[in-house]
Amino acid sequence: MEQRSKWSSQTGFLFAAIGSAIGLGNIWRFPYLAYEKGGGAFLVAYVVALLTAGIPLMMLEFGLGHSMVGSSVVSFWRVNRRLEWFGWWMPLLVMYGIMLYYMVVLGWCLNYVWFSLDLAWGKDTQSFFLNSFLKVSNNAWDLQDIVGPIFVSTALVWFIIWFICYKEVNKGIERACKVFMPALFALTLILVFWGCSLEGAGRGLTYYLKPDWSKLKDVTLWTSAYGQIFFSLSIGFGIMITYASYLPRKSNLVQNAIITSVADSAYSFTAGLAVFSVLGYLAHSQNLPATNEAFRQVVKEGPILAFVTYPQAISELPAFNRLFGVFFFICLALAGITSAISIVEALTCAIRDKFSLARGKVVSILCATGFLGSLVFACHSGLTWLDIADHFINHYGLVLAGFLECVFIGWILKARTIRKHVNAVSAWRLPEMWDYLVKFVSPAVLGVIYVMDVVNIIRNGYPSGPGKEPYASSWLILIGVNALILSFILATVFTIYPWRRKPELIIHRPEEDKLLT
Ligand code: ALA
Repeated sequence: MEQRSKWSSQTGFLFAAIGSAIGLGNIWRFPYLAYEKGGGAFLVAYVVALLTAGIPLMMLEFGLGHSMVGSSVVSFWRVNRRLEWFGWWMPLLVMYGIMLYYMVVLGWCLNYVWFSLDLAWGKDTQSFFLNSFLKVSNNAWDLQDIVGPIFVSTALVWFIIWFICYKEVNKGIERACKVFMPALFALTLILVFWGCSLEGAGRGLTYYLKPDWSKLKDVTLWTSAYGQIFFSLSIGFGIMITYASYLPRKSNLVQNAIITSVADSAYSFTAGLAVFSVLGYLAHSQNLPATNEAFRQVVKEGPILAFVTYPQAISELPAFNRLFGVFFFICLALAGITSAISIVEALTCAIRDKFSLARGKVVSILCATGFLGSLVFACHSGLTWLDIADHFINHYGLVLAGFLECVFIGWILKARTIRKHVNAVSAWRLPEMWDYLVKFVSPAVLGVIYVMDVVNIIRNGYPSGPGKEPYASSWLILIGVNALILSFILATVFTIYPWRRKPELIIHRPEEDKLLT
């Protein structure tokens, strides 16, 4: 009988779970969201989202995967046969939605490690990034062709992910995370101390941390905070369910869920310090007046903050600029790789559970098809595709997945079933209050912000950058809405396909083999 994958230690599991959570989202996405959405006000919304949705859902996913001993597909199949589609939808949306552009951004990072060696971006970093590097075309349908260096680096990143995932989890993912995560933490701390010691750093940090309370009235601040929580904690991806299923029976799920969520948020906050201290230095070195308007002049918003403003700041550093650049982009790459492997693992586990295929074969097929899908984001209009796909999948996909998870587990399975399981195996206990959070508070909050966000985009469209014109509705529908619909169709196809084995007989904990045979 085929052995189910397992972690070799709880520490290995924690490294992998934190590795999945900490990713590009923390270094690339979090700082620009915080910057765009009112600094400290965004942090307040973020903490509210962490407490009302992040931590409760992390516990839910750990508890579900651990008690059902299966991928998201097996877990939801066991909750109710008619929910199998949901178990497919989450990892498929993430693998063929987020992962495709995620890998291209990782490819950019590898290029930027290289560019850092001679500060190749020159003085006009925006023109370098958009025109020389991405060769950007602003019309979504004007794909033109694939940009050579992005093609090569994206292929390389896919190869690395394939290489790690090909091996069993305790030899591939666990070993990679045990090396990459400490390296990432060490490099980040160096960057924070280095950044904070620069002249003018305080100004950037003030901008980062000082709340603009008026922004709390903005619905997009809340949807962004909740979307970011899901993206950053890898919730609604099916990953945490899968990872928890590889744990032994006695596992401290509550403690692990808290450590993972808090470590991820603390890392985002710390990465923000590294980014904003350097931006403060940039404003200082350009002798800008100490006003928000002046700061905004120098700091570009949106996904390009890390690739336009940061390189500009790196060039201006008083010493060791190249080393700083290499460290920063290696940090991004390391963080992203440990998340990307978890995305591939969630779908690999689901496919293996249902179709009983060899790991190597599944991983190879996923990486090959994923690579082909990534290529659209490596084309000249890839940035527009990325922006739309990222917005739709996070705001409408992941938040919806979180809402449905609360409803399915809170009401169909009953939250107390998971709580009882968690309390039976963990040293720390989950209080009864958690049932209310999962049944009422989290779905209510998610439902309300979801509806408000949908109304907002229908009324105002989705702007192609702060203060810019909205994207054409046809682009939003054909790229954004389609990503959600196609993943749903794919999930339905996988669900209809017959099981190659009976999950109730085959899926079990390795140490329980003796009991079953
Ligand atoms: N959780 C991963 C990230 O933040 C996807 O990048």
